Amino acid sequence: MADAAAQDADEQLLHLNLAFLAGEPPACVLALARKAGGGSITPYVQNFLLESCIGTNVEGHQNSTYTTVILKRIISEVELSLDVVTDELYEEFAQRMSLKAKDSLLNRTDHIYKDISFLSSTYNNISSKLISLVARLSCSSNMLEGDTGCSLWPSSLFLSEFILSYPKIFSTKCCFELGSGVGLVGICLNYVGASKVILTDGDTSTLTNMKENMELNNLCIEQEVPEVSKESKNKVECRYLSWEEASKCDLPGYQPDIVGFVGQSEFIRDFLLYLGADIIYDPVCVPHLVRVLSMLLTRDGGQGESNGKSGDKFETETPVAYIATVVRNPETFNCFAKAAADTKLSVVNITSSAAPSNLLPYMLSYDRSSVQLLKVTLFS
Ligand SMILES: C[S@@+](CC[C@H](N)C(=O)[O-])C[C@H]1O[C@@H](n2cnc3c(N)ncnc32)[C@H](O)[C@@H]1O
Repeated sequence: MADAAAQDADEQLLHLNLAFLAGEPPACVLALARKAGGGSITPYVQNFLLESCIGTNVEGHQNSTYTTVILKRIISEVELSLDVVTDELYEEFAQRMSLKAKDSLLNRTDHIYKDISFLSSTYNNISSKLISLVARLSCSSNMLEGDTGCSLWPSSLFLSEFILSYPKIFSTKCCFELGSGVGLVGICLNYVGASKVILTDGDTSTLTNMKENMELNNLCIEQEVPEVSKESKNKVECRYLSWEEASKCDLPGYQPDIVGFVGQSEFIRDFLLYLGADIIYDPVCVPHLVRVLSMLLTRDGGQGESNGKSGDKFETETPVAYIATVVRNPETFNCFAKAAADTKLSVVNITSSAAPSNLLPYMLSYDRSSVQLLKVTLFS
């Protein structure tokens, strides 16, 4: 009994720590702090926050404004409930306030660094050793128009959980993502052993931020020109690809991307898989997106032969695109479904049949139930 209670307490503190590092909204961090304190933010939890969360935030990646807001919210809540605020917490807050003016000149206040920690699917409440992957991402701290691609969307969290839950689908495959945004999906694909990861986006500032994120995760690879990338041994590429402008020569499967030879002449092409997270939201872009998907899935149908590696219940020789999406506007989604059907694409909702494990249980702001997972193939 005592062991179970101690494990529970450890798990709550772990979740609080991970939520803070992931830059979860202050209300979510406070909710976890309250839970860890058994209903209130006790001096013990305050010390934990100071030492294990704020104290370990890597220098140079500190989100000073975010940390100051969290401290302020905690102090207000504890004071209001007439509990004790520790001297150390007051001191930390005072120091941060005095540095605030300097910080806002030195730091990018429009971006925040988020450490997204995926728990291992075998996680059983024991310790943080069971964190399988931590992705560090520079994200926009506002959701204003123009920053769409620099924000982290729930669909990419879901698609990442899917990749980490079913690694065999993606390992040894060449994976091509549309509208990659901050690049989280690419980091997960690299982690599960994709043979090649090609991330694309049609927004140049998003692409710049995406490359910065690949560097932050030691995956920096910069190849935009297909001719150059053919010879590149780099595993992750970030490419500009606008769905409106995309032509066949911008797409994999149309390039001679042979990856190896068997015997004298037979070639092996890495099996191509396509992905997208939260890319079905603008009715103006939908027809262009469907055109690109159709080109990808059609062309690969004749050439994307499996190299015979790793069997899996999802493995198929049919070219596949996995798309995670939140249906915010049913009309836009219907427009996608109709355009897909007109182009002879089959769209199957596999959210329940291929449900990923919950690897982000500490992320209270992430509503997994809002995300649908679609499997798109060519009608046979
Ligand atoms: C809502 S964001 C999703 C980003 C990321 N996949 C995620 O889920 O966190 C949509 C992404 O698609 C890109 N995008 C939107 N319209 C596009 C178009 N017409 N061509 C290429 N990329 C586009 C945006 O720049 C943005 O990065």
